Amino acid sequence: MKGIQMDSTFIDKIKEITKNKEYKYSIMTMGCQLNENDSEKISGILEEAGYTKTENLEESNIIVFNTCCVRENAEDRLFGKLGEVKKYKEKNGCIIIIGGCMMQEKQMVNKIKESYPFVDIVFGPHTMKNLPKDIYERILENKKIEDILDIDGEILENVPIVREDKIKASVAIMNGCNNFCTYCIVPYVRGRERSRSPIDIYNEVKELAKKGYKEIMLLGQNVNSYLVSERKENKDLEYIVTIENGEKRKVNSFATLLRLINEIEGIERIRFISPHPKDFTDDVIEAIKDCSKVCKFIHLPLQSGSTKVLEKMNRKYTKEQYLELVQKIRKKIPNIEFSTDIIVGFPGETEEDFKDTLDVVNKVKYEQIYMFIYSRRIGTVADKMENQIPEEIKHERFDRLKKIAEEIIEQKNKKYIGTIQNVLVEGKSKTNEKIYTGRTETNKVVNFEGNDGMLGKILPLQIISEHMWYLKGKQIM
Ligand code: 5AD
Ligand code: SF4
Repeated sequence: MKGIQMDSTFIDKIKEITKNKEYKYSIMTMGCQLNENDSEKISGILEEAGYTKTENLEESNIIVFNTCCVRENAEDRLFGKLGEVKKYKEKNGCIIIIGGCMMQEKQMVNKIKESYPFVDIVFGPHTMKNLPKDIYERILENKKIEDILDIDGEILENVPIVREDKIKASVAIMNGCNNFCTYCIVPYVRGRERSRSPIDIYNEVKELAKKGYKEIMLLGQNVNSYLVSERKENKDLEYIVTIENGEKRKVNSFATLLRLINEIEGIERIRFISPHPKDFTDDVIEAIKDCSKVCKFIHLPLQSGSTKVLEKMNRKYTKEQYLELVQKIRKKIPNIEFSTDIIVGFPGETEEDFKDTLDVVNKVKYEQIYMFIYSRRIGTVADKMENQIPEEIKHERFDRLKKIAEEIIEQKNKKYIGTIQNVLVEGKSKTNEKIYTGRTETNKVVNFEGNDGMLGKILPLQIISEHMWYLKGKQIM
């Protein structure tokens, strides 16, 4: 879908106000990488409007919370922080803004209005384009603003962006989700799937390459449905993108998008999160195999290893289908590794079901597992299910899964010792200035002795030891 362009009228108006004095902002991000990417855009808007970033809340003229609502703990963190910033507001009258997915939930907005009346602006994921106008009006008129849209917002292009990192960058390729997994609030707050045009994505990544970025993370709630909704409306949909050497490429799917991005000179690594196992088509497997820059590492959310639980989760695959998919990918791409997301304690999960999850974990031998304790989300189907699992059982299962996951990670780490790994050097240790840090293609952290000239380069390093959450490497002479 062709996005709409960000309008800079109100950014310019705020700049008129901020130009003679130093104005500062701070931003706190909760949640996933899509939210972090949104925060980089909010920072971009504020910096264009004349604010500079500070970590010190007390000296901020604007404090932004970019919230998430996927699990409950983010809410507790937000309320804790709001208590703290109230003091600063009383002292210096800063503007307090809450944005992000949590604001798309009516009960949360009501709670903020009732219990935290000092909050100035709330906005949702569909209304970022109005943020400059909302801030301008708040400065001029001192009124409270609630700017939330129930319908799906358009895709916004050309938003100013301030990226946290100089080597790796995230690029959203789509927004929203159509899957309605029964535990998940995302489809309700982020709306239906909408894909960005490949031309806009291509231009953004080309700009990033020009600025020296080496690694691109393509982001979406369900990346392998890229352009699928659009193709339902227009089955012949196809974009023609002219690449640097003047040749033309056709893009109409996630696989063809990967092939397009793979051609951008300067970019050395491409990753993506998250694909849905049910949509992992053969053309995507072929593209990963063929594209030299696409990391041979796939984040493949399992959620549960029990076919019965998967059905209740509305995941649309069975334990066996998931395992077959892993096998098929391994057969086609022999060195591929996987990471995953797992939820423990979904309603009705029995000991047998949980053992099925452990069975898949033992079979697939993931490089990394992101483990979550099931958290009830108001408005989702699973929240209304009977047989909610008692907290102590959820925690006990979580601990068992964690122990097994760590044993596997340790075993797998040992296999790295003595091997040569290509490591993209990303930064320096904060505590020891000789130690540099980077990642393997399989996303393992490697620390080693290096120098500044190595930053942003991919170096072959020999792995000499393993330490659970990182490996130690050395340069090969
Ligand atoms: N409770 C626990 N974990 C959840 N996730 C999504 N919704 C919930 C929930 N209600 C997890 C899933 C998803 C990841 C981003 O967050 O594992 O893949
Ligand atoms: Fe949530 Fe499922 Fe969509 Fe992922 S695919 S965002 S878990 S509904």
